[in-house]
Amino acid sequence: MAQEDVFKKIVSHCKEYGFVFPSSDVYDGLAAVYDYGQNGVELKNNIKEYWWKSMVLLHENIVGIDSAIFMHPMIWKASGHVDAFNDPLIDNRDSKKRYRADNLIEDQIGKYEEKIEKEVSKARKRFGEAFDEAKFRATNPRVMEHQQKRDALHERYTKAMQGPDLEELKQIILDEGIVDPISGTKNWTDVRQFNLMFSTEMGSTSESTNRIYLRPETAQGIFVNYLNVQKTGRMKLPFGIAQIGKAFRNEIVARQFIFRMREFEQMEMQFFVKPGTEMKWFETWKETRMKWHQALGFGADNYRFHDHEKLAHYANAATDIEFKMPFGFKEVEGIHSRTDFDLSQHEKFSGRQIKYFDPETNESYTPYDIETSIGVDRMFLSVMCHAFTEETLDNGESRVVLKLPEALAPVKCAVLPLVKKDGLPEKAREIVDELKFHFNTHYEEKDSIGKRYRRQDAIGTPFCVTVDHDTLNDNKVTLRFRDSMEQERVDISQLRGIIEDRVSITSLLKKLQ
Ligand code: GAP
Repeated sequence: MAQEDVFKKIVSHCKEYGFVFPSSDVYDGLAAVYDYGQNGVELKNNIKEYWWKSMVLLHENIVGIDSAIFMHPMIWKASGHVDAFNDPLIDNRDSKKRYRADNLIEDQIGKYEEKIEKEVSKARKRFGEAFDEAKFRATNPRVMEHQQKRDALHERYTKAMQGPDLEELKQIILDEGIVDPISGTKNWTDVRQFNLMFSTEMGSTSESTNRIYLRPETAQGIFVNYLNVQKTGRMKLPFGIAQIGKAFRNEIVARQFIFRMREFEQMEMQFFVKPGTEMKWFETWKETRMKWHQALGFGADNYRFHDHEKLAHYANAATDIEFKMPFGFKEVEGIHSRTDFDLSQHEKFSGRQIKYFDPETNESYTPYDIETSIGVDRMFLSVMCHAFTEETLDNGESRVVLKLPEALAPVKCAVLPLVKKDGLPEKAREIVDELKFHFNTHYEEKDSIGKRYRRQDAIGTPFCVTVDHDTLNDNKVTLRFRDSMEQERVDISQLRGIIEDRVSITSLLKKLQ
């Protein structure tokens, strides 16, 4: 099945099973804004708990904060967002649709890459075992031609973005013959800069109103609290401040479901270090964060680093952790060496001294900062994409199962009486009443046992417990495992021990040590 179709299935599965709904659904939705349903919120909270604990519990020198979304407007002037947080946009006069000029060009680069991969995969099939891929790439005339076009375009594009040179971006679009996917025409407007920040007004009278912004990143809330935390926590370098919270961006083109949203959530950590040591810490955090992702067991091949060629105005090194989504490798997390840019800017704009007094060297300096920044929603999407599985069973039936990491699953255990009579519901409720204090446990009695298993599979519940007539005599239940569908007869008193060990976030955290 085409990956595009798989992705469509994942999106509709998210809605059908209470994970993600379009926002304002009864009013036909609001573009690029989504709500999390009864199962989605549990999965999302588990992802956040895994991140928070991995930062704040496992590192003695990292503490958390929760700063306000509304902040002094000068913060966004100091950070550079008022002047530089822009995307280049272009309109097609015929379809009246708006696009990001950089996305159009990146898609074109992607097309050359696809052509190369097609040639390589055809040749691999043709030559089988004897295929020398490196030699083929270096010598095949068609591959070489596509590669040369791709590299020339990439170089021209990178240079244009560095300015940014908006006229050149438009010229690239025209020279490459890029057409609007809807109208099919090249009737493009000029490229313009578009600031991504949402603004609103604070204050009750027209004289006292102040234009303020909805934060486009949570990071600035950490920078402006650096002094507060360092002083009150008596923190010594190196130390980190972590935060989870909403961020808002007026994305020109919102694409791929919850991948690019206008309201989303970030988990960011700023790690303050002594100047000169930042590259060492940058490497350490790259490794630490990759380990965090890989502890989920999705396979190392599904991740890669993508180093930035065009660095943001505040960075001296940057990389993305990309995950293989059904629509290709995509950024889930950014790791940036932000130098002393942010603290220095806030020192300049606020007039307050924002420094660190180093007791070892008796000098004051502005710390450098390494940032790890991951989108909760993108992480959620990567988890769903990896977990969504359609299986054909030995008896020819098919099932959809979410093979979620057990510690992230919204419901950990479902307790199911075989029938709705003979005292079985009462016994099942007794079990729920004991287990519900330890992990999310559901009771379900409607429909046949097979249908109930399928419903639990579809939301990723790792364990089902079935209470039958024998249970009333021997106090044993059938424990069914989601992925293998194997069943085991176990004593009720053993249930908590077996399940708790596997579903707790601690089980994931231990893999990080
Ligand atoms: N403080 C740095 C910063 O915000 P970023 O690369 O712009 O860096 C960090 O964003 C992460 O936030 C991304 O890797 C992504 O996971 C998430 N993110 C950014 N924009 C997003 C959007 N429009 N929708 C969903 N997630 C987004």
